Amino acid sequence: MKSPLLLLLSFLAFSAAAQPAPGPMIPREGAFVFGPATALAADEALLPLAHYAAEYLGRPVRQQMTGTGAVVLTLEPGEPSEAYRLEIAPDYIRIGATSPGGAFNGLQALFRLLPPEVYAQQGIPDGTALACGIAADRPKYSYRGMMLDVARTWVEVPMLKRFINLLSYHNINKLHLHLADDDGWRIQIKSHPELAEIGGFRGGDSPVAPVYGKWSEKYGGYYTQDEMRSLIEYAALRNIEIIPEIDLPGHSRCIGSVRPEIRCSYPPDTVTTAGTDYRSAWCVAREENYVLLEEILGEICELFPSPYIHIGGDEVEVAQWKKCPDCRAMMKRLGTVNPHRLQDYFMERLAAMLAARGKRPAVWNEAAASGTFTRASRVHGWTSVGACHAATAKGYRTVIMPSECFYFDMRQTLREEGHSWASIFDARRTYEFDPAARGFSDRQLRHVEGFEGAFWTEIYTSHEPEKPDYMDYMCFPRICALARLAWSGNDEGWESYYRELVTDHYDRMAAMGIGFRLFPPQLRYANGTFTATADDNSEICYTVDDGRPKRYTKPLRTAEPHRYRFFTRYKTGRSPQVADNSYYRVIAPALTVTSSMAENPRVPFAKAAAYKAPARTRRACRRGDWVLYTFAKPMSCREIFLQTGHEQLPKTQITTGYAEVSYDGQNFVHIGELENGSITLRPDRKIKAVRLVSTCHGNGTPYVTIQPPRIKPVL
Ligand code: ACM
Ligand code: ZN
Repeated sequence: MKSPLLLLLSFLAFSAAAQPAPGPMIPREGAFVFGPATALAADEALLPLAHYAAEYLGRPVRQQMTGTGAVVLTLEPGEPSEAYRLEIAPDYIRIGATSPGGAFNGLQALFRLLPPEVYAQQGIPDGTALACGIAADRPKYSYRGMMLDVARTWVEVPMLKRFINLLSYHNINKLHLHLADDDGWRIQIKSHPELAEIGGFRGGDSPVAPVYGKWSEKYGGYYTQDEMRSLIEYAALRNIEIIPEIDLPGHSRCIGSVRPEIRCSYPPDTVTTAGTDYRSAWCVAREENYVLLEEILGEICELFPSPYIHIGGDEVEVAQWKKCPDCRAMMKRLGTVNPHRLQDYFMERLAAMLAARGKRPAVWNEAAASGTFTRASRVHGWTSVGACHAATAKGYRTVIMPSECFYFDMRQTLREEGHSWASIFDARRTYEFDPAARGFSDRQLRHVEGFEGAFWTEIYTSHEPEKPDYMDYMCFPRICALARLAWSGNDEGWESYYRELVTDHYDRMAAMGIGFRLFPPQLRYANGTFTATADDNSEICYTVDDGRPKRYTKPLRTAEPHRYRFFTRYKTGRSPQVADNSYYRVIAPALTVTSSMAENPRVPFAKAAAYKAPARTRRACRRGDWVLYTFAKPMSCREIFLQTGHEQLPKTQITTGYAEVSYDGQNFVHIGELENGSITLRPDRKIKAVRLVSTCHGNGTPYVTIQPPRIKPVL
């Protein structure tokens, strides 16, 4: 007789579509039941994978391939590919593939048929049954990638391993590591140890001035070559190739701070930048630079087995070359007045260095814009769909990753955290990206290698990066959607995919330990009553005045909707908070802004006082400097938010300080400390003025930004 558990799992084996989806499973009679004798067996070449699987299944690896009761991994003859065949029979499970990568994919397909706890590595209990059947599948795209910016936020080795694991569960097969940018250099270069030893740490007494994160404290890190070799191996076992990126010739302020001679030969403006040279480009005309680049790229080529080395090429500030006498002379020699030709020249020289070492360049789309760059290159199209179009039309192998759908540092709805410069989007937008519908011809589609998501980390550094919470929330389920799109496309449609996400994949992500984002609940406030709905399995909660969350079980009557916020949670997942529009309403009482610091006449204080745009002072703050917000009349409000700088950029804030409030315009009382240059006040009576007082000496910039206040009315 079948146990209830066995019945349930036989059913699951066919109903639980995988993530990415498996090819259709052709059912067979019977079931495979995990028992005390169940073990793993593998061909010699797949033994490392068998040992990997043993940790998840909680079963030993045995020597002999034959016999019953085994999960067998076999390497088959044929052109190596990522395809696999998964056969579940009453007395064995067999995964066959022509490459270890294919076998890994098959193993992940098997994991998805098992109880989600498989990801928690607690072992599969005896009696667990899988309905018999045969599935064969292969990925639609050969490039299923994720880019992680470890330059802006340092990501420790254990955190990176965790991320690699999470990607591998989703059959992502490329990890593009952004190892060097303006704000950090994260890979040891043995011939130039200073690059990582100095460039890996910013803030404090480092020559690398922080634009993001902490200002006064020196912090950071880098990967030694030994650590990176072990990461490469760790990823390779999981069918992930690590592709390194050294972003050149722009985004190079960090190496420019460590090795100032690489920059152009003209005196930089450091007066308006409080002494810091923020120039970010390599001088193209300085021949010694190519010697240094040979040494750096030589080590990178040696260290990383990937056939492609990403050499950047995005957002170069060519104005620096126009000011450089050497670069100008070079333009003359090249017979051009267009500084972009200098980039073409620079990138070609790098491509030649790579070619001499048997490697090909990968670049951001700007580097291929003129069309002169070698067709040996792979182009990452990020600026727009049009840029991907252009690259494929020119015949470049292209990875599609327009920021508007694939940059997972973008916020997911208007009021969530994250950037918004490219767009605001959730997993649905990623999932629904359809190259054919975006006008790519068949010929262009043949040049599409696949898709890549990106997690840029400028603001991750302000979110406790030692914990993965923010990264998880931003990346999942958007990575799931990306993985599905790249593995099998999106023909099943969002509704079907979404159902699968909620009913199957949320449980898997919870077992993987991912703090994923749930879609927000639908909220309605009408006739004095809140009604909230969400997915069946998630719990709807609400808070009143940000108090302790309570469970929402039935419509809530209230005459004060602005006090309520709603969200959902399910296991390790949580949704953003949503509220009635009244919660967000703001007022703009007549105001003047003054300061002990003079104003920048181009961005005067009146702009902030008119609630229109940020204003700026003309110098950095010193100890005792103040910014004063004076209301025309004493003003009631339920909340007032005052901010200096930009939320995530410490350099234009009053870094440390406090706030004082005045009820009469004469006497001020201390009311709280600034945090990240800002403070939220909830005054219990009318206020006439608020003063922010600096306790820091300097903020790393020659000015302070003053944001318009955000004031919520008494309702
Ligand atoms: C990029 O986002 N600058 C590649
Ligand atoms: Zn120059």
